[in-house]
Parts: sequence; structure tokens; C-alpha cells
Amino acid sequence: MTPIKNTEDRYGIVAIALHWSMALLVIGLAALGLYMVTLPDVGFNTRKITLILLHKQFGMLALALFALRLGWRVTQVLPKLVEHLPEWQMIAARFVHLCFYGLMFALPMTGWLMSSAAGIPASFLGLFMLPDFIHRNDDMFALFISIHKWLAFALILLLAVHMGAALRHHLVFKDDTLRRMLPWIP
Ligand code: HEM
Ligand code: HEM
Repeated sequence: MTPIKNTEDRYGIVAIALHWSMALLVIGLAALGLYMVTLPDVGFNTRKITLILLHKQFGMLALALFALRLGWRVTQVLPKLVEHLPEWQMIAARFVHLCFYGLMFALPMTGWLMSSAAGIPASFLGLFMLPDFIHRNDDMFALFISIHKWLAFALILLLAVHMGAALRHHLVFKDDTLRRMLPWIP
């Protein structure tokens, strides 16, 4: 039975649920983001607008889940990595995890600031409007679009490293790395 809380050796069910729900959400948001910006701007393209609104709604959900995840992360023990890892791999793994925490905060925040600068405030799942921390400003809008884009590219790059490492450990080294985050696989 997977414990609710983390232990020294393994992730608990809450950390696992937060990891996989956010993985699905963040990968979906990156794919949706890359797709929606390719749609033409000409005229009143409702499909593009609908998809951007969807991206913004789910992006703010990612920020809310991130707050929960960070809270859980700092109040739990951090399970040790699998044994016998070379030191560079331990440092690389922890560094990538740390970067993910930064990106899971910075991506929604730049999206939120971008929306305020565009004068199109973001809402939280259509339930209530979020406050604007900055005023409408075209230069800031362009700046935040650019930062948001480059952060997303960094996320995709690190994701390739992270997924590649998890699969390599599972298939080549046959250790418990992936099983710790996915205890139900053989
Ligand atoms: C983890 C969360 C998020 C991820 C991974 C993400 C990812 C992306 C990606 C990959 C793009 C396409 C970038 C490009 O090629 O130009 C994009 C664009 C965009 N994102 Fe996000 N995003 C997130 C959260 C948000 C949030 C919370 C908002 C707003 C509240 C937002 C608003 C936008 C907008 C308006 C664009 C279109 C920018 C343009 O017109 O070029 N995003 N996002
Ligand atoms: C299919 C995609 C993914 C796979 C296969 C995967 C796999 C894993 C595995 C096996 C671990 C455990 C590493 C260990 O401590 O031994 C882990 C941890 C972690 N992963 Fe992923 N992951 C995926 C997607 C993501 C995404 C999209 C993010 C964030 C944007 C993410 C962020 C993290 C973080 C921060 C940790 C450290 C534990 C924590 O604080 O939650 N992962 N991942």
C-alpha cells in the first residue's frame, strides 16, 4: 500500500497524484499553447480566441495546483533518490526538479501578467476575475509574451531530459526510479 505522506524512501499518494495531474496539465498546456499560436489572426478567429481562453483557464488551474504542491513539498520529507547514482546524476535530477518548480510558477505568472498588460484580465475557471498587478501596456505585453515563450521552450527541453532519464532508468538500468512515482507498474 502506498502511504499518504512521503517517507525517506518513497513518494506518498498525495505527491504522486499532484505529480501526474500536473504533468498531464502542463504537457497539455504546452501542446495547446504551441498549437493555438499557429492559428491565423485574420479577422475574428473565434477558434483561436476560444483556445486561448481555455489555455488561460487551465493555466491558472496549474498555478493553484502548484501552490498546493509547493505547500505539500515543503512540509514533507523529500524521498532519497535511488541508490548507486553517480553524483552528477543526483545533482542533475535535483536541479531539473528545482527548475520545474520555478517554471510551474513562472509560466502561469507571466501568462497572468501578459493578460493584464493586454487589458484582457484572466479569470479563475470562469468563477471570478483575477486582479491585475500591472496596467495595460503594449511594451510589457510584448515582453511577457516573449518571456512566456522562452520559459515554455525551457520547460519542453527539461521535460525531454526528465522523461528520457525516467525511461532510461526503467528500461536500461531497471531500477526503481519510475516505480517510485508510478508504484503500480511491474
Ligand atoms: C504551466 C502553465 C503554462 C504553460 C506550460 C504555457 C505554455 C504556453 C506555450 C507553449 C505557448 C506558445 C508560445 C509561443 O510559441 O509563442 C503559450 C502561449 C500563450 N499563453 Fe501560456 N502557458 C501556461 C500558462 C498560461 C497562463 C496562466 C496564461 C494566462 C492567464 C497564459 C496565456 C498565454 C497566451 C495569451 C499565449 C499566446 C501568446 C501569443 O499571442 O503569442 N499561459 N503558452
Ligand atoms: C511523462 C512525463 C513524466 C515522467 C515519466 C516523469 C517521471 C518522474 C519520476 C520517475 C520522478 C521521480 C524521480 C525520483 O525522485 O526518483 C519524477 C519526479 C518529479 N517530476 Fe516528473 N515526470 C514526468 C513529467 C513531469 C512534469 C511535466 C513535471 C513538471 C512540470 C514534472 C516534475 C517533477 C518534479 C518536480 C519531480 C520531483 C518530485 C516532486 O517534487 O514532485 N514531471 N518525475
